[in-house]
Amino acid sequence: MKTDNDGSTGALRELETITPPEIFSELEKGVLGQGAALRYASVAVYKHTTGKVPGNILLIGNSGTGKTTIMNNIQRMYHEVAEYRPFRAMTIINANLLVDAERLEFQPARLLTAVEQRARALVGERPTAAELKATMERATVCIDEIDKMSSIVAGKPNAIGVVLQQGLLTLMEGEVVAHRAHVWEGEVERETVIPIDTKHMMFICGGAFEGLYDQVYLRVVKPGSGEKLKSQAIQTADGQVRIESHFALGDYLKPEDLFEYGMVPQFMARFDDVVLLRDLDARVLKEILLKSVDSPFLRSKRYFDVLGIDLEIEDVAAAMIAEEAAKSTRTGARALRAVFGRIVNRLEFDPWSFEGLEETVGGRRRLLISRDMVRRATARNGG
Ligand SMILES: Nc1ncnc2c1ncn2[C@@H]1O[C@H](COP(=O)(O)OP(=O)(O)OP(=O)(O)O)[C@@H](O)[C@H]1O
Ligand SMILES: [Mg+2]
Repeated sequence: MKTDNDGSTGALRELETITPPEIFSELEKGVLGQGAALRYASVAVYKHTTGKVPGNILLIGNSGTGKTTIMNNIQRMYHEVAEYRPFRAMTIINANLLVDAERLEFQPARLLTAVEQRARALVGERPTAAELKATMERATVCIDEIDKMSSIVAGKPNAIGVVLQQGLLTLMEGEVVAHRAHVWEGEVERETVIPIDTKHMMFICGGAFEGLYDQVYLRVVKPGSGEKLKSQAIQTADGQVRIESHFALGDYLKPEDLFEYGMVPQFMARFDDVVLLRDLDARVLKEILLKSVDSPFLRSKRYFDVLGIDLEIEDVAAAMIAEEAAKSTRTGARALRAVFGRIVNRLEFDPWSFEGLEETVGGRRRLLISRDMVRRATARNGG
């Protein structure tokens, strides 16, 4: 019997037996409506944790569709699943922090320092060089805003982007980087250089690639491109149906589009998969609002619970909030928080003077978010 940090007891399973579908259902608690992307992410995590093949992925998706959320949920899973303890050295870093813009130099030290901090939190206050090395070499490294490091910006070469992509691709291939760190030998602390082999690290890069959407869209709609936009019937909460022609990047993206965008082909070749996140429609936004582990509704529910109030929401009210949020196409699921906030912020301050507060059993109260409340809140803000 082994005891894990979290206090969970029991024999640890072999990492090979924690299958991609199991990883998927763990991640799905916090990432909704991105089934296809999550399947790739689950396979990548499985490859990484079993250590035989590298599992590097590139996440591409509009703002607020869940790129950072996927990274956060992988981290959450590493912490909740006892077997993944050795993999908990995970860091999320912004791509632009990895280059020295003045000297045009790739700075792997910044990455490794961030990884070292996570590793230290895991192995304890007095790690030996060997412990630190083993933990750091199993790290998951997330590099956000990778699209800002394109090799072309506004039609001109962008030297920083080339430096970053070249530096990263070398790390992803597996490079031994000399890393300076404080370690312990018995009772003695000393500074030493640890050779860190990056071959077994997992790299997850993410970016919104905003210009990419326009670029591919223009290629597709250009007369004579030989491609055609798909159309789709959409049903609104009040039962109406309308036809919308719909552009999903995934239907049209080719590797050449990414090269043209400014991604270095050799860098792209280091990823097992390029994973596209889809835009979230009102139906998914409603699910996120009601079910995702970190949804604005569930957060607020936890808050009211402290006050002895059970927060509930009418199904139609949730659908209306989702539809209102879906109108802000540029912010994705972030809009849920804003729309939901318009309804509950006032109530969170003083729920007791709210006329709709009902008494229930055991001195508790119930607060129901109704369709009228949503209607009033959205009308207040011009709909
Ligand atoms: N697929 C999703 N499932 C659950 N929640 C989501 C999803 N997508 C976004 N969210 C919620 O929306 C918010 C913003 O999402 P996130 O930070 O993942 O966006 P992003 O794709 O990284 O966007 P950006 O390109 O702007 O960084 C988060 O609070 C998250 O909880
Ligand atoms: Mg993000």
